[in-house]
Amino acid sequence: MREKIEKLLLEVEQLAAKREQEIEEIRVRLLGKKGSITQLFDEFRNVLPEQKRELGQVLNTLKVSAQNKIEQLRAVLEESMESENPGFDLTKPGDSFELGTRHPISVTRGEILSIFSKFGYEVAEGPEIEDDWHVFGALNFPPEHPARDMQDTFFISDGENPVLLRTHTSSVQVRAMERMPLPIRIVCPGRVFRNEAISARAHCIFHQVEGLYIDKNVSFADLKQAVLLFAREMFGENASIRLRPSYFPFTEPSAEVDVSCNICGGKGCNICKGTGWLEIMGCGMVDPNVLEASGIDSKTYSGFAFGMGIERIAMLKWQVKDLRHYFENDLRFLKQFETVV
Ligand code: PHE
Repeated sequence: MREKIEKLLLEVEQLAAKREQEIEEIRVRLLGKKGSITQLFDEFRNVLPEQKRELGQVLNTLKVSAQNKIEQLRAVLEESMESENPGFDLTKPGDSFELGTRHPISVTRGEILSIFSKFGYEVAEGPEIEDDWHVFGALNFPPEHPARDMQDTFFISDGENPVLLRTHTSSVQVRAMERMPLPIRIVCPGRVFRNEAISARAHCIFHQVEGLYIDKNVSFADLKQAVLLFAREMFGENASIRLRPSYFPFTEPSAEVDVSCNICGGKGCNICKGTGWLEIMGCGMVDPNVLEASGIDSKTYSGFAFGMGIERIAMLKWQVKDLRHYFENDLRFLKQFETVV
């Protein structure tokens, strides 16, 4: 044992290291749980009593000199880093890095959903890749309807049961009507796809939030109130709405909703093109054919639905003039929304 101690003492004296990691390896090798000095301490238990005093002292000396040596190696290393890189201060906090910001579409999506969740709507999501039934058939689109045409819809496969990219999130509403117990009160956010030429006002991929409420005795007045409350939450308490008659295969009657222009307060400006109104969504009373197609008794139940483009709402809110900005990930654009989080 004595020999082992002496050998290690010599070794300790000659220790050298250039990197922090080497020093740590040395520490583990000598003083770690299974380190050679630690093992000597274990063996020390079996030393004859008359040798204990003397051996104990050398063993302690070994341990202390190993600890000192390691500290010394650390100090030398720090010093050499300091002299190689003058001003290098190991205690300095690291460089700060830039945090990302939420995308304006996510911010707007969150805002729309939180408004409707206050009104008691649940969020429902569904697949982006769909079949004809959930995007068109169940929504009362006649077989020859032009929206089914290649112009608007991206087909993944054709034939008897074509697979396609959903052109609206009404497909999620169909899935909800098929499986959820009544009453249903949902909002359906998601990406939608349309085969459109990309311009300042249209894109082949955009985001929607659609809503659906089905219960007994739901009326057009309920729809109007829901839309008005939403508009006030989104565009300010002085916002007013107007409904213009419109057509969708899945709603009857149908309407297009305009909100009073939040820039000029309705007086007329270049954003609202002098009309004082901005179009924000489509809506209507769910067509009885649509209820029946999903197995809901249209004599007992009625409902309303609405759908809006998130990009459009965000453009109106922040006066973004070109929809393409949302998809180009240009930091100069995105950074303008830093404070909106
Ligand atoms: N699904 C329609 C669209 O994508 C929007 C809408 C939803 C209209 C519900 C009326 C009712 O354009």
